[in-house]
Parts: sequence; C-alpha cells; structure tokens
Amino acid sequence: MDKPSEQLDTLLRETRLFPPAAEFTRQANFSDPSVYDRAAADPEAYWAEQAHFLDWMQPFSQVLDWQPPHARWFHDGRLNAASNCVDRHRTTVRKNKAAIIWEGEPGDTRVLTYEMLGREVDRAAHMLHDMGVRRGDRVVIYLPMIPELPIAMLACAKIGAIHTVVFAGFSSNALRDRIIDAQAKLLITADAGHRRGTLVPLKQNADAAVVDTPIESVLVVNRVGALSAITMVPGRDWAWEERMRAASYAPFAAEAMEAEDVLYILYTSGTTGKPKGIVHSTGGYLVGANTSMRSVFDLKDEDVYFCTADIGWVTGHTYIVYGPLSAGATVVMYEGAPDFPDRERFWSLIEKYGCTIFYTAPTSIRTFMKWGPQYLKSHDLSSLRLLGTVGEPINPEAWMWYHEHVGARRCPIVDTWWQTETGCAMIASLPGLIATKPGSATRAVPGIAVDVVDEGGQSVAPGHGGYLVIRKPWPSMLRTIWRDDERFQKTYFGQFPGTYLPGDGAHLDEDQYIWILGRIDDVINVSGHRIGTMEVESALVDHPAVAEAAVIGRAHEVKGQAITAFVTVKEGIETGDELTVELKAHVVSLIGAMARPEEIHFTAELPKTRSAKIMRRLLRDIAEGRALGDTTTLADPTVIESLKVRYQDRE
Ligand code: WT7
Repeated sequence: MDKPSEQLDTLLRETRLFPPAAEFTRQANFSDPSVYDRAAADPEAYWAEQAHFLDWMQPFSQVLDWQPPHARWFHDGRLNAASNCVDRHRTTVRKNKAAIIWEGEPGDTRVLTYEMLGREVDRAAHMLHDMGVRRGDRVVIYLPMIPELPIAMLACAKIGAIHTVVFAGFSSNALRDRIIDAQAKLLITADAGHRRGTLVPLKQNADAAVVDTPIESVLVVNRVGALSAITMVPGRDWAWEERMRAASYAPFAAEAMEAEDVLYILYTSGTTGKPKGIVHSTGGYLVGANTSMRSVFDLKDEDVYFCTADIGWVTGHTYIVYGPLSAGATVVMYEGAPDFPDRERFWSLIEKYGCTIFYTAPTSIRTFMKWGPQYLKSHDLSSLRLLGTVGEPINPEAWMWYHEHVGARRCPIVDTWWQTETGCAMIASLPGLIATKPGSATRAVPGIAVDVVDEGGQSVAPGHGGYLVIRKPWPSMLRTIWRDDERFQKTYFGQFPGTYLPGDGAHLDEDQYIWILGRIDDVINVSGHRIGTMEVESALVDHPAVAEAAVIGRAHEVKGQAITAFVTVKEGIETGDELTVELKAHVVSLIGAMARPEEIHFTAELPKTRSAKIMRRLLRDIAEGRALGDTTTLADPTVIESLKVRYQDRE
C-alpha cells in the first residue's frame, strides 16, 4: 500500500471529537445505541425488520440465501420499486406533498407533488409500454438533471424494465459502449442540456452512439427548445412530449417484481479498460437505500433534502431517487453548475427552499473553500440541520470549513463511505449516536460487517492499516457484473473467498474508527468520480501518434486527484503543445470531459520492470515530488532518473 505517508500522518494527528448534541439525539430516528449490537448479533433479523418499511406485494419468507459470492435477499418476496417510491404515498397525507422541487440552471422551476409525480410516471410507463418496452428489457437514459430523468427511471421500474442511466457528461463513444454492453432497445435523451451557461448537444451525441446498436427507438425530451432544429430520424426518433400526450392517462398496473429481479445496471470504472455494469436488485437495493435514508440521513417528513450529485452516478440513484422517494421525502433537484450564474447558487437554493439536509462532495467543499466564505454570508442557511459528504476521503481542513461555514457549528456531518457496488452508505455515523472525527467516516452502519485486514485476511489491531473488507453479505450489494459473472467473482471475492473486497485501503484507529486512505488499485478518484487509469491509457493509445501511455493520479488540492499522463510517441512524431491539446481532446471524445488529463508529459521511455510491467508507483513519486521508492525491479534504472530530471525542469 504505497500511499503518501504524509496524508496518514496528518489524519492521525487529528484528535478533535464532535459528540452528537443531546437535542439532536432526542429527535433522531436512530437514538438507541443498542441497535449496533442487535444488528451485529443477528443481521438478518435487523434487515428483515428494516424491510418492513417497504410495501411488499407478496411477503418474503426467507431473508437471506447466501451461496458465496452470490446472495439472494428476500427472494420469494415481490414488490415494485416505483410503487414504493411514488404510489404508496399517493394514498396518504403525502399525496399533495412536494416529492421533487426542481430548479433548472436558467432559473426555471417545477414542483411535482407525489400525486403529480405518480401521474407522470404512470403515463411514461404507458408510453414506454406502447413503444414495446417489457419486463427485463434494457432502457438507456442519457438525460440532464431534469424531472424526466427520475420519471423515466421510475417508469422503467414500474414496468419491470431495467434502466441504465449514462451520465450526460459522457461522450457518444462511452454512451455507445454502454448501449452495446447492456443490449438496450430504447434510448431516452434530450435535445440538449444546460451546463454552466452553455448547451451540451445530447441528441447529437446520441445520434452518433446508436448506429449499429440494438437501439430501435429514441425518445427525445425537448429541454432547451431546440427540438425543431434537430434532425429526427423518422420511425426511430420520437418527441417525448408527443408520445406522452398520446399515451393513456389511466393508472399503470405495477409489475410484481421478484425481490431479486434487476432494478438497474450502472456502469463504473475498474482496473481494465472496460467499464463494469454493476447490477442491482429490486428488493435488497431498495431496503438498503430506504434504511440509510432514515438512519444516516435521519430523514423526517418535514425535511427538505438537497443532494448535489448528478443522477448519472450512484449517489443520485440512491440518494436523489430511490432512497428519499421511498421514504416519502421532499427532494430538491438542481440541474446545473454551482457557479452559475454566480458562486452563490447552492446557498440561494438552500435559502429559497429552506433545505434542512445538504449532501455534497469533498471536492465541492474544497472549491467553496477556495472561493471563500463571502459567498455564503448573505444567505440564510439556518434551516440546515444535517450535512453529508461522499465520494472521497475528506481532509480535516475541509471538514472543519463545512462544519463552520455551512453548518454554523450546529449541524452534524455524516461522512458516508460507499461505492456504486455497495448500493448505499456502509461506513457512516448515525448522527444521533456517533461522535464524529473530522476526516473519518467513523464506523460501519448497523448490519454491515466492515473490517480492516492484512494481506492474509487477518483483522489488523487498532492503530494499524490494511485492506478494507466487508465480511458478510448485505441487502443492497451488487449481485453481479452484467454479462460477466466471472469478473464479478474475481474482482470482489477473488482475494479473500466469501469476503467482499472494495479496493480501498483503510486505517483503524485506537477507538476502532475507520480512516479511508483511498484506492489501492489502478483506479483514481477525480472530483469524486472514479476513473480507471487503464481506460485513459487505452484512449491515449488509440490516438495514431501514441506508442505507449501510463496514467496516474497525482494529489490535487481541489480535485483530490488529477490525471497525469506519461506518453511515448511513435517514431518521427513531433511532440509539443499542439499534440498535447490534441491528445486531451481525444480522451474527452472517447470518454468524456471528466477524464481529460490535467498534464501530459512526453517521454522517450516508460519505467518498466524486467517483465515489462509499467511501474506507475514510480511515476506517482515523480509527479508528487517524492523521493523515488524501491527501484530495484526496474529493467533500466536510467529511464526513471532522466524522467525525474526532465519532470523537475518541465517549466
Ligand atoms: C469509491 C467509490 C459512493 C458514491 C460516490 C462514489 C471513494 C466514496 C468515500 C468517503 C472516502 C470514499 C472510495 C470508494 N469514496 N465515498 N466518504 N470517504 N472515500 O462512488 O464511483 O463507486 O466510487 O469512492 O475510494 O471505493 P464510486
């Protein structure tokens, strides 16, 4: 585990402790500390109890069937995710409660009560059904953060179709790969999306993506009013609004899904060039999402909950759509950038809607810090009562800033560690029960068996570090990788049989608090987004000028990590600024803007072992200005020395 030791040293010097305030604990959903022991003693009983917060069309008789590494939770139970997120609230006092308070980047707004959302979802389900979508079919959704995105997801869920949301920042190539892997028959997109005052040409990207794929129909939402100006392919492309108008307004009968039926596939990066289609179930996933909403986020009916993630990532799936809606929350959903039209946008939103819970990423907090607290000053943030973070380790300095300037020293902070694969928060404080330490996600939530182990799988003693693992199955765990169960078994259960390996390093302190140290594989975390170094390398090597590329993550003040590429070019190719610009653009066109390398360094050779494996560890040492680690396995030690000198002289 070759993590910079300075990071660990700073963390371990962190001694501040923030116990929950008595008033908070008194009102918390989870206020009895015995829940931890109870859940640890009998996790299945705990999860069965939590499962009863959902509506089941057919009750389950068995909680867990565990054939490592395959788990089935509540498998003979039947339920529908959309009914749980919408319809069941339509028959209660929540009928006229705001489910989604949406604000577009230009400032347009839309409020959907549970009743209104239900009508939209039913109509969209009819529309999709009219277009031939059936239970088990895959529908790819490539939309900006507009209400049609959750509506489309829930309409799929109502039919029992599997949705695959592709973040609107992905390029048409990335979209295409996902369409093909998922073998989707229908794509939902928009004419364009708003981003920081400019338009993202979604339909144009979609047109390029769907050629020679199984996509039969494309539904296009008229988001920016450009629909009349774009080319619609007759017989393939349909205006969402028109098809909606043509669909029945009768209620749509929800499919009674088996708990283990797939709710969605969401692609994430791994250590190879090919993204993994993470498969989530209907019953177990929803139990995890719903439980953590009540436990970690302490959600009450009175709350106004604002999560700044994009629904294109798992955070948005679980903590904008399935978690909060299944729990009957009011969700604030914002389409655009935090600095549009100015740097006060988030604070204006919190003030305007009286948000009580705010959930964002450390990279955003560091950006706010850099901008300075003056942007918050003129806004009344006193409605806030709970703050959350997710996506990467939060440095204590950013934690303190968040605590002081956003939370006014009044709001507990829940630092939630989880992954696309885990479905919901796994390590996080329950805000009424756990004292927090800035920079630590604290401890596992009830019912989750987290441990830190050494190479041999033995638990480390307090005061030591190792691999983070999860020893027992949990309801919202991924079920497999879409069409690649072997990769699922190998990646997550190959190292320690029966034990889940997330791929993160962790340190256990003397109080048994967990400090996440970041990825220990060839995956990097840029602004809370997971990117496989191999994916970027493949994109670089795809360019005709490139012979070889090695990509690493370098510590970055705001982004957490920044993508740094070392590239060797083919004979006779001239290197320089022009090629740098071209290569960056090439990566963006193959993956998306989030994968754009921050720096590209040209080098005649890459440091390799005698078996020709690129030593990324040494490249990281160079990029972060550290003394070189062990170089004895290098085939040619002069390569790294000259690279180091050239890197230092690069200005
Ligand atoms: C990886 C998962 C889960 C939604 C966002 C990212 C890192 C996530 C934390 C946290 C330290 C964190 C881990 C993890 N990570 N949350 N609170 N503290 N690290 O989802 O793209 O699946 O990435 O993000 O390294 O493995 P993802």
